[in-house]
Amino acid sequence: METTTLVDRLARLSSELTAAERENLKFLLSMAAGGLLSGHARPDSESLHRAALTTAQRALPRLHGELRPAFDTGVVFRGRAPFFSTADLAVLDRESLAYRARAARFHDHYVASGAPVARELALSQSISDFLTARVGPVLPTYKANYLYYDQPGLGIDPHVDKDEFSLNVLTMLEHRPARRHSRLILHPPEQDAVHVQLEPGESLIFFADSVTHERTRTVEGETIRLVSFGYRTIGSIGSTP
Ligand SMILES: [Fe+2]
Repeated sequence: METTTLVDRLARLSSELTAAERENLKFLLSMAAGGLLSGHARPDSESLHRAALTTAQRALPRLHGELRPAFDTGVVFRGRAPFFSTADLAVLDRESLAYRARAARFHDHYVASGAPVARELALSQSISDFLTARVGPVLPTYKANYLYYDQPGLGIDPHVDKDEFSLNVLTMLEHRPARRHSRLILHPPEQDAVHVQLEPGESLIFFADSVTHERTRTVEGETIRLVSFGYRTIGSIGSTP
């Protein structure tokens, strides 16, 4: 199979689709990539598996037209983000703890949304400036979620997010105990997987709508709390003006 040609054709097809059709195609490709990575989809041969996975992974960033031209791993930044003060992190941590009781189960983890401090911080000018300097202008999507993986066996299978989290600013608030098991893994096309173990206070900013990613399962006694802010790249095909 000529992978490059098929990826180019999918990219061309994408440019002719409506926003809803493109979202559907993205969903199909992300399901394919996730299924192939997790072993739910099992083609007859190793070469077919590799070609199908590479096609899905390479096509996903191309669905966003020229907005992911330098797409490599999908990671924009990793580390202690300058836009969060120590006080910001402390208040997010407190709010995350307070919102645990109202978190709802979403597949294999718990999510709480609508928390006021998280929502307000997600709209801050300093985050917008930081992101704009790296990826061009962005719009907040008003999505700010607290995530909880605090029971054994929680995690999330390989997937690609919807455009509410095109660009995900994901910040670790707590990960106990010191001997940590669950980790975030990114699967960029035709490269080794990127294993990410964030320290509390560290952020990972990545194109969650383009790179397949997962969180491996927690073990007994493990607790993880994160906060996730969603942004959209302005000019994204299909984005609202
Ligand atoms: Fe995700």
